[in-house]
Amino acid sequence: MVRYCILFLLITGLAALGVNARSQDKPTAQAASKTNVQVLMRDKLTHMQKVLDGLVTDDFEKIAEEAEMLRILGRAASWQAIDTKEYKTHSRRYARLTSNLAAAGKRRNRDAALLQYLQLNVTCVDCHEYIRKQQHPLDPTLNRLER
Ligand code: HEC
Repeated sequence: MVRYCILFLLITGLAALGVNARSQDKPTAQAASKTNVQVLMRDKLTHMQKVLDGLVTDDFEKIAEEAEMLRILGRAASWQAIDTKEYKTHSRRYARLTSNLAAAGKRRNRDAALLQYLQLNVTCVDCHEYIRKQQHPLDPTLNRLER
């Protein structure tokens, strides 16, 4: 189980980075503060890695602190890169999960924290996929995960 979790995390981590690889050549039409968003996002990746650090070393204070940082980053105004209903849904899910993750850390509940963390990874990747589809609507390779 743990091995699958780690594999999963590696894959989703790489997928999150995929946004970066594609971001070099895309038009900036929708994201006025693109650079700010990218800087915030890089920070999120760092905090996510620290949460994983906390999870694998049973450091619940670290989990709670880093989750709280992630929650605060999510509230930053420049986050609102796209003004659509779907983007808001992704943002709300992110807010709920980061807040649950911080709470699980404070309760020193490793299983609950791990579950929130895994779901949070899915949320990162889902929102990025949504954004890529917005930016490259005609790219057929981006629709393969359509649900
Ligand atoms: C609600 C939507 C949303 C969620 C959820 C989200 N992101 Fe992002 N992410 C974005 C946007 C918007 C960009 C900027 C895309 C662009 O224009 O290049 C981005 C870009 C990134 C980048 C690339 C930054 C760069 O240097 O180009 C990283 C890394 C990243 N996000 C990490 C994360 C992580 C880690 C999570 C989850 C903890 C996460 N994101 C959750 C919207 C989101």
